[in-house]
Amino acid sequence: MKVIIKKEYEQISTCAAEYIAEQIKRKPNSVIGFATGGTPIGTYRELIRLHKEGLDFSNIIAFNLDEYLGVGMDLSKPYSQDQSYHRFMYEELFNYINIKKENIHLPDGLTKDPEEFCKSYEDAIKEAGGIDLQILGIGRDGHWAFNEPGSSFDSRTRVEKLTKQTLDDNYEAFYKNAGFSREEMPHYAITMGIGTILEARSIIMLANGSKKAEVVSKALQGPVTNQITASSIQIYQGTATVILDEDAAAMLDEGKIVASVS
Ligand code: PGA
Repeated sequence: MKVIIKKEYEQISTCAAEYIAEQIKRKPNSVIGFATGGTPIGTYRELIRLHKEGLDFSNIIAFNLDEYLGVGMDLSKPYSQDQSYHRFMYEELFNYINIKKENIHLPDGLTKDPEEFCKSYEDAIKEAGGIDLQILGIGRDGHWAFNEPGSSFDSRTRVEKLTKQTLDDNYEAFYKNAGFSREEMPHYAITMGIGTILEARSIIMLANGSKKAEVVSKALQGPVTNQITASSIQIYQGTATVILDEDAAAMLDEGKIVASVS
């Protein structure tokens, strides 16, 4: 695992975007796993800038990590009131790059048959040849995607109940501003599993801010446990790159990892 520590959020965004751009240049038809949340927004802005300079997404295949159950994109609402991860991805990235619509895959929060949908999502990833590069954040409860504490490391795409910590964080960061009450926000999501994520050929995990410092140190240096599902990075077999700002890296034990600071 390579850990890169940058001074500030802007620099982790640039660094992550360059890493993704390298992957796309190396393999123009890469299968990329995208993430939502506050963390990757800067990375997506930088990717949009790189696209304006010529970075070509026309053969990229996208699979997103998760979507709230019961929620779909609603274009009749302004973006600020549409909290679907579909809308997020279009507004923060897809509308501004030349990715083909048919190459975009997100879990369908409105599916009538979640079990069948989850199976078909796994099949679609396999048919695309597997994920070349998965982008990940980390939740304060240690989750990757919506793999909440207790999720098995073998888990596949499925419906997951969100923890209080996740509901609190996502309410504060997103739903509150959209005028929802805490009870109205969705309590379940469709998420790729940890087993699905661990099959990606490479991953980049991003984290910024002091709120993430404790969980980052637990995930990277604490015991490998399904109580912190991101700690599965320690048993991951592919190429893992972790990009942190100094605040998120503050509780790491420097004796235990080789980190490059720039
Ligand atoms: P955040 O979420 O980027 O909004 O902090 C990260 C996550 O929950 O994985």
